[in-house]
Amino acid sequence: MYLPFGYALLAVILAFPATTQQAASADGMTPFDRAVVTPKGELVSPYPNFKSVAKDGYRAYMRAGCNGCHGGGGGGGMAAPLTNPAWIYGDDDDTLFRVIVLGTGSLSPGLTFGKFGYRRKSSEAMVGPMPHFGEIIKKDEDVWKIIAWMRSVHCEQRATGC
Ligand code: HEC
Repeated sequence: MYLPFGYALLAVILAFPATTQQAASADGMTPFDRAVVTPKGELVSPYPNFKSVAKDGYRAYMRAGCNGCHGGGGGGGMAAPLTNPAWIYGDDDDTLFRVIVLGTGSLSPGLTFGKFGYRRKSSEAMVGPMPHFGEIIKKDEDVWKIIAWMRSVHCEQRATGC
């Protein structure tokens, strides 16, 4: 099956459920704003014990509609798998937060992601930009919880665990 990426993208964007509306962060900043004002390398997850919030993270992942492209289990679909060992831009907290909230390539408003100096380190079968979610997801915590869920799935799949 071949679906032109642009159409598929539009379908996913139009399908976003109204339930993605949540209260904003206490200081009124969206995750997008946070990623724009925070110097590169300084975004750190408040959940070092990531397994404790993995379930919440999975709920946030589904609520935001990430599954539309990355699959219900994160194993990929139209877009890259989130649960295999290949990380396109890197696997540190700062990078993953910015991929999710700023989007990548031409779908990052003002090409912000690229201006931070991020470049692809590897590529997966499907190469294309990711839309930005830093305004759809209202709270930083939810982005961190999604990252926590991704990390916990990685651990489960690794023979040696984490
Ligand atoms: C419209 C399709 C689409 C949706 C919806 C989407 N993504 Fe993506 N995502 C992509 C594409 C395409 C890439 C590859 C980006 C690139 O190569 O620049 C990607 C890359 C990523 C990566 C990097 C993966 C790696 O292997 O390094 C992460 C992490 C990610 N997405 C998380 C998410 C999360 C979390 C959500 C929901 C908040 C989400 N994505 C929603 C299309 C999507």
